Amino acid sequence: MHVHEAIPRSEYEAAAAWIRERIPFSPRIGLVLGSGLASLADAVEGSIALAFPEIPGFPAATVEGHPGRVIVGQLEGHPVMVLQGRVHFYEGYSVQRITFPIRVMQLLGIRILILTNAAGGLNPAFRPGDVMILRDHIGLFGMAGANPLRGPNEADWGPRFPDLSRAYDPELRALAREVAEAEGIPIHEGVYAMLGGPSFETPAEVRFLRLIGADAVGMSTVPEVIVACHGGMRVLALSGISNVLNPDAFEPPSHEEVLQAGQVLVPRLTAIIRGVLRRI
Ligand code: HPA
Repeated sequence: MHVHEAIPRSEYEAAAAWIRERIPFSPRIGLVLGSGLASLADAVEGSIALAFPEIPGFPAATVEGHPGRVIVGQLEGHPVMVLQGRVHFYEGYSVQRITFPIRVMQLLGIRILILTNAAGGLNPAFRPGDVMILRDHIGLFGMAGANPLRGPNEADWGPRFPDLSRAYDPELRALAREVAEAEGIPIHEGVYAMLGGPSFETPAEVRFLRLIGADAVGMSTVPEVIVACHGGMRVLALSGISNVLNPDAFEPPSHEEVLQAGQVLVPRLTAIIRGVLRRI
């Protein structure tokens, strides 16, 4: 599979129609659950589950901690559509295919998208188990050309040159902070850097990422945020800090550590997301 792939609109429409036939209402809020965070979907009531491989055009998730299901149900009185498990570029899909579900959400009428991910902490103040609200990102991967919007632009999806200076909705960020503080959850706001993965960063790369102003690093989220913003959605993104990266006393991160930290992070992220939904 190449980095890029041209996906016709009809393919997104077929997936949206397939899902629409199987759900009793139209969700307006979407959630994307990152590595080790899949059990956050347990909070969704009266839910219908659709496996990624059944849905036309959906990429099947291949990584442990990512079952790959669409869950539709109610959370805090809001109809929601949850991607339980996401697909990463490093799994071998094109950057357009990994963001396919986001465009399907756009067609289904999703207006607010809440994303979570597991990330390595670069900011020396961060501890494993902390939560970071994304204020901005450094899409190293997209800056180098792997942008999901590459290719002819269809104005029906969004503008050719979308502005990302307000990609992370200030109002939703403020709500998330308010909830975290009320719940006593260690909370930060910061800049997320995305790399393609799957290898973890070298100490020199960690030093570089700190120098350019990144507070956390991961292998997801940015392509989805770009597509969501292109489609006019309001975005809230939360990183669960699963491990910390110190270039001067380097401890190798591991996928097990990421999944384990998820156990502390799931109740924290669940509380923040529930609180935000109660307030919107
Ligand atoms: N680096 C990149 N991605 C990650 C990390 C990390 O240390 N932890 C969780 N996702």
